[in-house]
Amino acid sequence: VIDISSLSKQTGHFTLDPGFTSTGSCESQITFIDGEKGVLLHRGYPIDQLAEKSDFLEVCYLLLNGELPTAAELSEYKHTITNHTMIHTQFDRFFDGFRRDAHPMAIVTGAIGALSAFYHDSLDINNPQHRLISAHRLIAKMPTIAARAHKYSIGQPFISPRNDLGYAANFLRMCFAVPAEDYQVQEVMARAMDRIFILHADHEQNASTSTVRLAGSSGANPFACMAAGIACLWGPSHGGANEAALTMLQEIGTVDRIPEYIARAKDKSDPFRLMGFGHRVYKNYDPRATVMQKTCHEVLDAVGAHNDPLLQVAVELERIALEDPYFVEKKLYPNIDFYSGITLKAMGFPTEMFTVLFALARTVGWVAQWQEMIEDPTQRIGRPRQIYTGAAKRDYLPVNKR
Ligand code: ACO
Repeated sequence: VIDISSLSKQTGHFTLDPGFTSTGSCESQITFIDGEKGVLLHRGYPIDQLAEKSDFLEVCYLLLNGELPTAAELSEYKHTITNHTMIHTQFDRFFDGFRRDAHPMAIVTGAIGALSAFYHDSLDINNPQHRLISAHRLIAKMPTIAARAHKYSIGQPFISPRNDLGYAANFLRMCFAVPAEDYQVQEVMARAMDRIFILHADHEQNASTSTVRLAGSSGANPFACMAAGIACLWGPSHGGANEAALTMLQEIGTVDRIPEYIARAKDKSDPFRLMGFGHRVYKNYDPRATVMQKTCHEVLDAVGAHNDPLLQVAVELERIALEDPYFVEKKLYPNIDFYSGITLKAMGFPTEMFTVLFALARTVGWVAQWQEMIEDPTQRIGRPRQIYTGAAKRDYLPVNKR
């Protein structure tokens, strides 16, 4: 019999940190978060300034290159991304393999992974040119693939990208235009979409980004790593929370039912949680939630839904929770997902698309983090340890002796 308690001594000391609450997995220059103060900076720039003054492709450039582009650099970058938005008709057939009612997240996970089968000639992760072209392809093709996943799941024909439109406007058109019908993207919607993309672009070592880095640490190709990140994002504790928050607001339905749900959220025997509340890092208002709340009001005004009962429930729920000692003591504030579901619904997206939109926007963060990891000379394969708590060594018994 092996004394299990001696196993850790045999292999040296290591820390048991479930959920990695206090483990730094890497050094990074991309994103800074001060969760106590509610600060989020990308390459040093505050998220509210980027959301207000920049646009998504400029933020992509910033995240990937470390500096804001000059006018010439930005123009060239936008031109490059625009030129990669198409996907090959052969790749279109890939979508037909899915059931008609497949969840768009399932389609996107499969399609992004399948890009590695399509672009297998440029997958050398040690070649900077291959890394660059993969980054361009991912950022450019993700909206096309996401829009196709939506169109496929609702049984409508695919809409090709329009390269004279901006990144967000083109995406909205690919999602909502119908052949032979005139479809004009409203400026306020394009701006809101672009801002939502900026708000989701990166968030340092969250679960999906850590997944991308861990997958990439083995030398896996970038498309495979992104597929791993998308799969992780799908969960309701992460990217699926905006869908869950909207479902919760719909379930609450009216302002008078809020106290019942607040009580349930505080009851430890009830697994229910207020979706869109709380964050591993933010112990203050999520700075993205502030911008998202403003964007939500703008979109609802634009569609004439400022009296939407869901918004009324959300505003009142936030007010009550922020005054409740349970939420105050545990520092549970609304996160970005609290208002994003209402906003996306008002823009016309079905709930199944919410996490897809998150994945679309987060792609640049995943690529930037993956690239930073590959270029780090100290990078090693990620390999967490464990504390073994299973059975001690024992002899195999034939089936007739068990
Ligand atoms: N409602 C009620 N209580 C909550 C909530 C909530 N939304 N969030 C946390 N708590 C409570 C927990 O019950 C726990 O209480 P205890 O100390 O009495 O046991 C305490 O606050 C700490 O919670 P943990 O789960 O330990 O915190 P953790 O950092 O592991 O989880 C998480 C963070 C997953 C975001 C959590 O707050 C949650 O489940 N929120 C709802 C889902 C959500 O909105 N997710 C989106 C995250 S942001 C993003 O991915 C973009």
